[in-house]
Amino acid sequence: MSHPIAEERPAVHGDALNGLRAAIAQAAQPEAAAQRVVELLHDRFAHYDWVGIYWVDGSDLALGPWIGPEATEHTRIPIGTGICGAAAASGQTEIVPDVEADPRYLACFASTRSEIVVPIFDGGEVVGEIDVDGSDLAAFDEVDARFLEEVAALVAPLRPRT
Ligand code: SME
Repeated sequence: MSHPIAEERPAVHGDALNGLRAAIAQAAQPEAAAQRVVELLHDRFAHYDWVGIYWVDGSDLALGPWIGPEATEHTRIPIGTGICGAAAASGQTEIVPDVEADPRYLACFASTRSEIVVPIFDGGEVVGEIDVDGSDLAAFDEVDARFLEEVAALVAPLRPRT
């Protein structure tokens, strides 16, 4: 196997990455590009029920673009709090198959059963994360993780600069 990563990636993820690259290239501003990213993820993957990007803002995560059936009350999350804050603190992708079984979980939506949070890095620092909520138990696996880590690399340049 000369290209194991390419061979293991499902075609649907390769297609989505191409679509995301094109959308980012066509967007007029970084904010619009990041909004298109969450929309494309939500539209292409039925198990991505709510998709949002949080950006690091000081010692908090601040909600950026999102799409889903409901707004979340958690628009600012201290780094270290919740599953989102844990991923930001550790720099590790979090896959939570059953949110009710995870004491760190900050509830947003009654329908959420599982969650994946993928850090976004820029220059070795966590600058944000992609948060996806699912309505099924164990909706997310390592294939989602590897895909969303590639998406995270695409959106890192879109982070707000102060
Ligand atoms: N459930 C997250 C909070 C963000 S909402 O899912 C959008 C957490 O536990 O950090």
